[in-house]
Amino acid sequence: MKSTASAPGKIILFGEHFVVYGVKAILCAINKRITITAKTISENKISIKSSIGNLVSAPKRPLTEVDIQLRPFYFLADKMIQKYDEKSGMEITIDSEIPIGVGLGSSSACCVAGAAAISGVFIEKSKEEILQMAIEAEKTIFPNTSGADCTVCTFGGIMQYDKKTGHSKIDSEAKFHLVIANSKIAHYTKEVVSNVNQFKEKNEERFSKICNEENNLINDVLVCLKKNDLKGIGINIIKNQEYLELIGVSNAKLRNMIELANKSSFGAKITGAGVGGCIFALTDETNMEDTIQQLRKNDYECFSVKIDFRGLDTF
Ligand code: MEV
Repeated sequence: MKSTASAPGKIILFGEHFVVYGVKAILCAINKRITITAKTISENKISIKSSIGNLVSAPKRPLTEVDIQLRPFYFLADKMIQKYDEKSGMEITIDSEIPIGVGLGSSSACCVAGAAAISGVFIEKSKEEILQMAIEAEKTIFPNTSGADCTVCTFGGIMQYDKKTGHSKIDSEAKFHLVIANSKIAHYTKEVVSNVNQFKEKNEERFSKICNEENNLINDVLVCLKKNDLKGIGINIIKNQEYLELIGVSNAKLRNMIELANKSSFGAKITGAGVGGCIFALTDETNMEDTIQQLRKNDYECFSVKIDFRGLDTF
């Protein structure tokens, strides 16, 4: 039996890090996808083929013995094999258009498409059930995940998300283009989130004040999105970046990229965990090309993306 699924990457427009502490975040799915095919095999083994690495292993191994990048797939395959057919094995193939480890949701898209393809070999599940499996799989590499990334990769579009009340789609008329630039500095979400936690522990009052300000900012963005007010959204992007600077997830290179992008776009900020990875700039057809040129002139790799409204697809 064979099953294929594909899921989009994502951009956090507002609220990364603060979302871990209960603040609302605004995210969107982007038109770069990961496709995963799973099929049962007669031999009792789990085989994973991908550009990030390969694995052939017996089932029931402790997860700590599995390469961290491939852990979610192994976890999901092992769980499904033990549940539905413990004598069989599974072969998983991963094909990705999303750059890895740069804050564009490669690992959450892997967990979502992986959960759908791997479970799909045995049983049909709802998107909600797949999301829960995906979050469980993501926790094998990143135990403190807010769940926001997997949620937007599952449902697509633009959404607001908070840990308590979950997610809801934002129906916005806003016609914007997102320009993404890659700092090429590797970042490790788990470490950055843990550093932010240390900052919070040492600066409880300050951190809580920034969370309140972020919350107000996001409420304002929701109004701007309804009114298609790109200038208003841009002002809030710049403000949000200031909050990210305060909690220590920026650096000189990211600041330089943001400064360049701010010259022509409505506003630019880090997206995702920060410290490395990508920034994005909000543009429309009047300033998208200028923003791309400005960044390219300075040797930054950049590209534009559109919003993905499909979310998880199964075949
Ligand atoms: C990482 O893409 C986003 C963070 O807010 C962590 C999370 O939400 O789990 C930094």
